[in-house]
Order: sequence, then C-alpha cells, then structure tokens
Amino acid sequence: LLRVQTIASRSKDGVIPAMFLRSETEQPGITTVHGVKLEVPIIDFSNPEEGKVLNEIMEASKEWGMFQIVNHEIPSHVISKLQSVGKEFFELPQEEKELYAKPVGSDSVEGYGTKLQKEVNEKKGWVDHLFHIIWPPSSINYHFWPKNPPSYRETNDEYLKYLHVVVDKLFKSMSIGLGLEEQELKKAAGGDNIIHLLKINYYPPCPCPDLVLGVPPHTDMSYITILVPNEVQGLQAFRDGHWYDVQYVPNALVIHIGDQMEILSNGKYKAVLHRTRVSKEETRISWPVFLEPPPEYEVGPHPKLVNQDNPPKYKTKKYKDYAYSKLNKIPQ
Ligand code: SIN
Ligand code: FE2
Repeated sequence: LLRVQTIASRSKDGVIPAMFLRSETEQPGITTVHGVKLEVPIIDFSNPEEGKVLNEIMEASKEWGMFQIVNHEIPSHVISKLQSVGKEFFELPQEEKELYAKPVGSDSVEGYGTKLQKEVNEKKGWVDHLFHIIWPPSSINYHFWPKNPPSYRETNDEYLKYLHVVVDKLFKSMSIGLGLEEQELKKAAGGDNIIHLLKINYYPPCPCPDLVLGVPPHTDMSYITILVPNEVQGLQAFRDGHWYDVQYVPNALVIHIGDQMEILSNGKYKAVLHRTRVSKEETRISWPVFLEPPPEYEVGPHPKLVNQDNPPKYKTKKYKDYAYSKLNKIPQ
C-alpha cells in the first residue's frame, strides 16, 4: 500500500497521480475566497469574567460550530512536545511506521494509514494519518501507540492530563448554554466513558496544492473536537456558501462542534463543515482529539430540550450505527 508521504517524496518532478486531482468544483485554488481569512471567534480562557467566556462559547457553538481558544491552561512546552513526538513518528522509516498499520478488516479506526477510496471515481486526500484512543484507560490499545520516539507515551499522557481541564470547561459552558445544570451535558454524553480518540494528520508538501485537498469537506462525527495544528496554514471552513481559510492563531486550540453535539443539543449547536488544503513547500500536521460516545452508546436529543414546541429534530441511534451509516453514505 502506497502512502501519500511516499508518493510525495517521489513527485519532485511536479507530477502526481490523477487519483488526487479534484474536479473544478472542488479544487481549493478555484473554490476558496482569496485575500481574506475567516475570523472565527477567538475565546480567551484566562478572562476572569466567567459569564462572558461562557456566553462566547455558547454563541460560537450556535453561530459558527467552530472557535479557537487562547490562554487555555495547556503549557506551550506540553503542546510543542506533543507536536515533536508526532512529527518524529512520521519521520521514521516507512517499514517501521507500517508496524502500526491498521489491520486489514479491523472495525476500529485505530492505527497508521491512508484513507481508502470507497468508489472508483472518489478522489484521494493528500494526507496520511495515525489514530489511537487516549481515554478512557479501559479502551486504550497501546499496540497503536508508537514506541518510537521513546517519549511518545509519556508526552501524550501529559497532554491528556491538561486536556481534561479544557474538556470539562467546554462541556460545562455548553451545558449551561443549553439551560441545563453544569454537569448534565457531559453526563448525557457518556461522562467518564467518553472516548478521546487522537488523530495525527500528516500532509506532506504537494507540487500542485491548488488542485488537491488534504481532508475533503465533512463535519466531524464527534461531540466536540479539540485540535492542535502546526504553523502551516490549511484549515478551511464553509461559511455563507463559500470556503475560507481559517486564520491560524499561534498557541490556540481549534474547536469543532461535531454531529453528536448537534444531535444532543437538538440542533441548538451546529456542526461545522470544514476541509483542509495543503502546502507546496511545507509539511502540515494537525492533532485533533475527537470526543466521541462509546460505540454502543445511544445518542439523541437531550430529553430536557425536547417538548411540544420543540420536537426532536434527530433520531436516537447507537453511535456505531450512526458512524456506519455516515461512513457508508447511507441516506438517513
Ligand atoms: C480534519 O478535519 O480532519 C483535519 C483538520 C485539520 O487538519 O486542521
Ligand atoms: Fe474534521
């Protein structure tokens, strides 16, 4: 199986396989609004006016489905370390990375890989990835955690420790924003059993960045996604019918509202449609953590948000059934 990283290293002549080349309706060179960056809300977690922060989280979750957090309490050395061990993994020899390849036929997403084309004319994204669960401990399979570099594990554990604080603050604010008690939303989402799935997206440089996409347009399936990018611009969001680059903000965490939060909030919070583009010269890398229900967990609109005037807008489903239908593009 050929990885994008290998293809990239062989395409120094500027030619890439046709399976990556998007139609004109999808090419980022044509379909991006140039000359402006989308200014998604930037929320300062160190603001002592807690009510104000809460309100900003609620508004951004309703109106944008996306925001960035600055002055969160994750120390910058913890984030830099997370970034360097992830980068080092992708810089290992190919044979060594393949030891972590997602097993053929496995029904979990965990492992190293490249997204397969589902249909003949489906285009491939210019990206390789590594997925592994980092929480809860009972769901972790260390087989998929790189043993190299040796500090990979402790670095990820350290990041997780700080991430928990951000996750709790987000759930609390979003809960109050829905008129629920502080702890109610997280509890309804699965509480301490909420799966934290880490993905590393590795986008090598591409000779023709205007013609390809990294990750094609999608909304995340998670409740919430918390993403650390590197400094290479690439995330785009769809807003008022157009695609825009999302402003890269140093040291910020990028938050996406995903499908499960839209469902649980009965449509009050909106999942954001986004995609990524890649760079001609630089490697872009991003580290999203998807907060997801356990596979057997049923998600539907929160009972307290549904009444005569507000009927449920979404069906209640087991998360694994939701994911299966979405990934296989089965109409709902
Ligand atoms: C994704 O949405 O899967 C990737 C986002 C990013 O790389 O910034
Ligand atoms: Fe995404």
